[in-house]
Amino acid sequence: MALQKLARVEEIPPGRTKFFRLGSKTVVLANRAGQMYALQGICPHRNNPLEGAILWDHLLDCPWHHFQYDVRTGENHFPRNVYPADLPRLQEQVRPLKTYRVEVKEGDVWVDLE
Ligand code: FES
Repeated sequence: MALQKLARVEEIPPGRTKFFRLGSKTVVLANRAGQMYALQGICPHRNNPLEGAILWDHLLDCPWHHFQYDVRTGENHFPRNVYPADLPRLQEQVRPLKTYRVEVKEGDVWVDLE
């Protein structure tokens, strides 16, 4: 377990996200109604950064082509929910985002990047 302090809670108000580069890793923090989530910061669709991603309730919307991910699980929501599940090319593109454990202590947001 290697918790790393990434931000103050007030930097990411409810409904907002913030993108971080930490050496070779990227992380996006998302505040859904006061609950903070941390996910890998690169979208598996075309490996673009999730910097500027918008949060629609529990769905993180990639700014590049609008793939959407559930911040609670990292699972792809769109386009998986509208295309046939057995479409081989789609399966390569709808991999989940890695999720990281988050702790909020005294207003600081700590993330376990292991
Ligand atoms: S890179 Fe994220 S939707 Fe295409």
